[in-house]
Amino acid sequence: MKKLSKLPRHIGIILDGNGRWAKKRGLERLSGHEEGAKAIGRLLSCAKKYNIEAVSVFAFSTENWKRSKQEVDGIFEILKNLINEKGNSFVEGGFVLRVMGDVSRLDQELQSLIKNLIERTKTNSGVVFNVGLNYGGRAEIVRAANLALEKNIEKLTEESFENLLYTSGLPPLDFVIRTSGEMRLSNFMLWQAAYSELYFPKFFWPSFNERKFVKCLIEYSKRNRRFGNV
Ligand code: IPE
Ligand code: IPE
Ligand code: MG
Repeated sequence: MKKLSKLPRHIGIILDGNGRWAKKRGLERLSGHEEGAKAIGRLLSCAKKYNIEAVSVFAFSTENWKRSKQEVDGIFEILKNLINEKGNSFVEGGFVLRVMGDVSRLDQELQSLIKNLIERTKTNSGVVFNVGLNYGGRAEIVRAANLALEKNIEKLTEESFENLLYTSGLPPLDFVIRTSGEMRLSNFMLWQAAYSELYFPKFFWPSFNERKFVKCLIEYSKRNRRFGNV
């Protein structure tokens, strides 16, 4: 595609608007999360087709525990079903699963499904799919600082600090997309987004499709990344 003169290596997506998507249709919030999970499948196909190296998504934040137990349990149920139903094709598609966040607070069944899929995909060489689960950018930075203390590292550099983050080894986060029109990061990848291009399309996450993905890529390819230079 001619318009795509440059592509992001690593895209971060704040998957937002599941609830409003459902409300607009007179449905329960959980139906929005179910459709949102299907949209993740479309996202992965797009990432593969357009040769994106890594995609990081915000699926559940450290703040999302404030929601009703019914909604929180429902979201995790949907994630379990997603892994059970799509896990094999994820492995066969060459994807690599990574998770960022404190998964120890998730239920045992989900933890072992995740652990198992990470294990099965670790020798794959395709798109890295990095999922934020019980993830917060501030918690990630504090965790990295604590790791440095535990390792008795006396002096950190930006490079050595980055190696203590969940994203260690991934390409720089070039592009952050938040759907649903909200214009905030809500604690997503605070360190990594320092120089990311930001984009806030209006559509709700469940309506994501290839056409919208291409629109995002076109938007990115128009950006002039100066990194402080002229
Ligand atoms: C994003 O959709 C998914 C999660 C936070 C898990 P929301 O559930 O935040 O949807 P809105 O913002 O209420 O529309
Ligand atoms: C951010 O969305 C977290 C995820 C997408 C997982 P929220 O919908 O929770 O964020 P706020 O509350 O609008 O900032
Ligand atoms: Mg929201």
